[in-house]
Amino acid sequence: MTVSPITVCVTGAAGQISYSLLSMLAAGNVFGPEQPVALHLLEIPPALPALAGVVMELLDGAYPLLHAVTQTADPSVAFADADIAVLVGAFPRRAGMERKDLLEKNLPIFKRQAHALNEHASKHVKVVVVGNPANTNAMVLAAFAPDIPPANISALTRLDHNRTRAQVAARLDVPVQSVAGVCIWGNHSSTQYPDITRATVDNAPVFDKLGSFETVARDFIPTIQKRGAAVIKARGFSSAMSAASAIADHLRSWVCGDEHVVSMAVPSDGSYGIKEGVFFSFPVRCMGDGVVEIVKGIEIDEFSKRYIDATAEELYAEREEALALLE
Ligand code: NAD
Ligand code: LMR
Repeated sequence: MTVSPITVCVTGAAGQISYSLLSMLAAGNVFGPEQPVALHLLEIPPALPALAGVVMELLDGAYPLLHAVTQTADPSVAFADADIAVLVGAFPRRAGMERKDLLEKNLPIFKRQAHALNEHASKHVKVVVVGNPANTNAMVLAAFAPDIPPANISALTRLDHNRTRAQVAARLDVPVQSVAGVCIWGNHSSTQYPDITRATVDNAPVFDKLGSFETVARDFIPTIQKRGAAVIKARGFSSAMSAASAIADHLRSWVCGDEHVVSMAVPSDGSYGIKEGVFFSFPVRCMGDGVVEIVKGIEIDEFSKRYIDATAEELYAEREEALALLE
């Protein structure tokens, strides 16, 4: 049986993250070894020559699943009939900046792209926002793309989720695949709450082995919250290889389903007291075909509640700031 190609639009396609991501999409590492992919690559005009070089490399990769590649600076072409949109294109954070410092620069990009997505993408398009501040950019996108169901829009916190699993594995000297039960609550920012209170290794709880509440608050949590800044300081650029890998994980879980609970920033439905109107990272189950359910009924202890409340407050404030900026 011939499988029809899936159309995947990637914005910021000549940038660092895309340079790692595009080969994964073309090689079948995201949607599986039977699924052909048509890539629609969007850039700003000054970056089109660099994008042409990336496209040469994609063709030189001779990927059997790469059905077609379109390169353009026109969002209406890039988003045309897109089944999946990966919104990476934005200014990255530099050393000393907080992600919210990017609000003013990046929000207008997402407002403009919302209109184009709304007009030109498939009505079932699934969108993952990567460009920072990712949660608030996703909120803006949902606000200005009224025909796309908000449930089809998400923001990436899988990188934080993967960082959390990797740190648990490193600290306990166990294989990363044995670690489960972690999740990220809230904003993809330094207020995010990497929750290891229910972490398991081979299904056995391990929180006690990772320290006391005091040491976890002093060491483990800030390590994850500040990991993006640590990579920027060390590399001079923001994380790209690990971000691309997390995007691949996010899309694979979302489209193909996942037996494990993962983390995604999705529109809040009021769960855990988080007000509607913000994109909040929750522990979620991906049921396949784009169906995502927030995991309900987790008992939130006082320790976790303080963190969850703080990151929610940051997102409410970012929302107000964003809406005022865009008025
Ligand atoms: P980069 O500067 O290497 O690439 C960004 C690309 O986007 C550039 O090529 C630029 O020309 C392009 N671009 C800018 N405006 C555009 C527009 N309007 N339309 C299309 N393309 C546009 O940056 P990068 O390292 O690839 O990071 C991209 C974004 O992802 C940054 O905002 C960064 O902070 C963010 N990021 C998010 C996560 C996450 O986990 N959510 C992780 C890492 C990086
Ligand atoms: C990250 O988490 O590595 C990215 O969001 C880059 C950043 O700005 O920290």
